[in-house]
Amino acid sequence: MTMHDLRSWLQAIESLGSLKRVQDADPNIEIGIITELNCRRKGPALLFDNIRGFPQGRRILTGTILDAPRLGLALGYPGMRSSQELVSRLEGKMTEYELASSNYPPREVESGPVLENQLFGEDINLLQFPAPKWHEHDGGNYIGTGCVVMTRDPDSGRVNLGCYRVMAQDEKNVTIQISSAHHGAINLKKYHSRNEAAPVAVSLGHHPIYLVIGGLGIPYRVSEYEYLGAMFGEPVPVIQGKVTGLPIPAHSELAFEGFCSPNQTRSEGPFGEFTGYYGSGEEQEPLLEVKAVYFRSDPINLGAPPGRPPHDYSYMYSLIRSVMVKESLVRDGVPDVRGVWFHEVSGVNFFAVVSIKQRFPGHARQAACLTAQCQAAAGHLGRYVVVVDDDIDPSNLGDVIWAMGTRTNPEKDIDLLRNTYSSTLDPVYPKGARKFFGSRAIIDACRPYDWIEEFPAVAESSEEERQKVLNKWKDLFERH
Ligand SMILES: Cc1cc2nc3c(=O)[nH]c(=O)nc-3n(C[C@H](O)[C@H](O)[C@H](O)COP(=O)(O)O)c2cc1C
Repeated sequence: MTMHDLRSWLQAIESLGSLKRVQDADPNIEIGIITELNCRRKGPALLFDNIRGFPQGRRILTGTILDAPRLGLALGYPGMRSSQELVSRLEGKMTEYELASSNYPPREVESGPVLENQLFGEDINLLQFPAPKWHEHDGGNYIGTGCVVMTRDPDSGRVNLGCYRVMAQDEKNVTIQISSAHHGAINLKKYHSRNEAAPVAVSLGHHPIYLVIGGLGIPYRVSEYEYLGAMFGEPVPVIQGKVTGLPIPAHSELAFEGFCSPNQTRSEGPFGEFTGYYGSGEEQEPLLEVKAVYFRSDPINLGAPPGRPPHDYSYMYSLIRSVMVKESLVRDGVPDVRGVWFHEVSGVNFFAVVSIKQRFPGHARQAACLTAQCQAAAGHLGRYVVVVDDDIDPSNLGDVIWAMGTRTNPEKDIDLLRNTYSSTLDPVYPKGARKFFGSRAIIDACRPYDWIEEFPAVAESSEEERQKVLNKWKDLFERH
């Protein structure tokens, strides 16, 4: 398998029977609705070609990482059969990659597949590439959803990759929506405060690992390119953008670069968001004037439209955020964390569960507060964190609701954190209301530590007795 190359990855998932080709779909909401229905069924990845109104070969791919085998393959762990298996393979890896990342600066190469076709200046027409209207009430056509946006910190020179949506405005301009806490926004702001245009490059199609790494909260000090290099055990090959000098993945399917000038904005949105609602409405967002376009022949744009969960990237978000936050708790020295799970059905960020073996008074509150506020979680919308004992599987909602129902006393087991991170995407604030701060609820659904020994025993058979009965009554319990 060629690292970083989307086409090799597609061959691999096709051999698993997890790729379907779709012909003649309409980019005006039809591709979006097909994608939505497919995600809900956890179906195969869909490769759209002969898209209505576009020549053959201008392709769009959606539903890439909807399950453990495909996400595992994207992360370099083939053969994963379940989320549990993938979670245990990833145990400790995020920290390992972060620590190793400085050994893997991207490797600049003279040429790469992305340079097969090049357009500059007057020849640029972005409208020649399909940009779906994904949801019925979107305010425009989005050329970038599973894209990564490269920006540079003008002080340190560090390059950041972030997934931010990109709306096609006209032949030569797009807008990019970046929440204020995200590193791309910080970099743009730094240029603009010096009254300089910010160089920006966007890769629209690539191996899905870029979507995973660009979409997660890698700490600001670490470049996502280096992190990716550490994941793959060798540096990422990049070409230098001919206009901005920014590094662009050499295996990108389709990329462009240009400048965001200070005070240059256009109307953007609304857009169906990961919360399950149309987000912030129509707002002014930074305008990127595109100066160069690079693409492979028959380019594949990686689509990742969010929406009411489960959506295109909610499975990936749930699994990776759960792994990252657990690692963060372990790194901080919280003892006996058995598991962390951010629930896909809640839109991932809104409902997290952490399971611990209680060791001391206050252990449960410590685990809950850190789950809500460690860096891997705090800079995202959030709502509820439930902490449960180690007999509760945090990924099993039935287990979790039972613990919440039976082990909490609401008047003393629910705490609120006020003035936490929020964003304009939070649906609970009326339009126009100040949305700088949000809040979090912590629900301590552990048995009370001070009288844990006297807490009623669980009325279910012990493992030992259950096994005896299962062995004796095999025929009765055998699945037919
Ligand atoms: C597919 C996808 C689309 C996303 N779209 C946006 C977006 O439009 N704007 C935004 O600010 N964050 C968006 N995010 C979330 C950010 O990519 C994510 O929070 C990331 O950690 C930001 O990286 P940064 O902190 O390096 O800027 C998206 C994430 C994914 C996976």
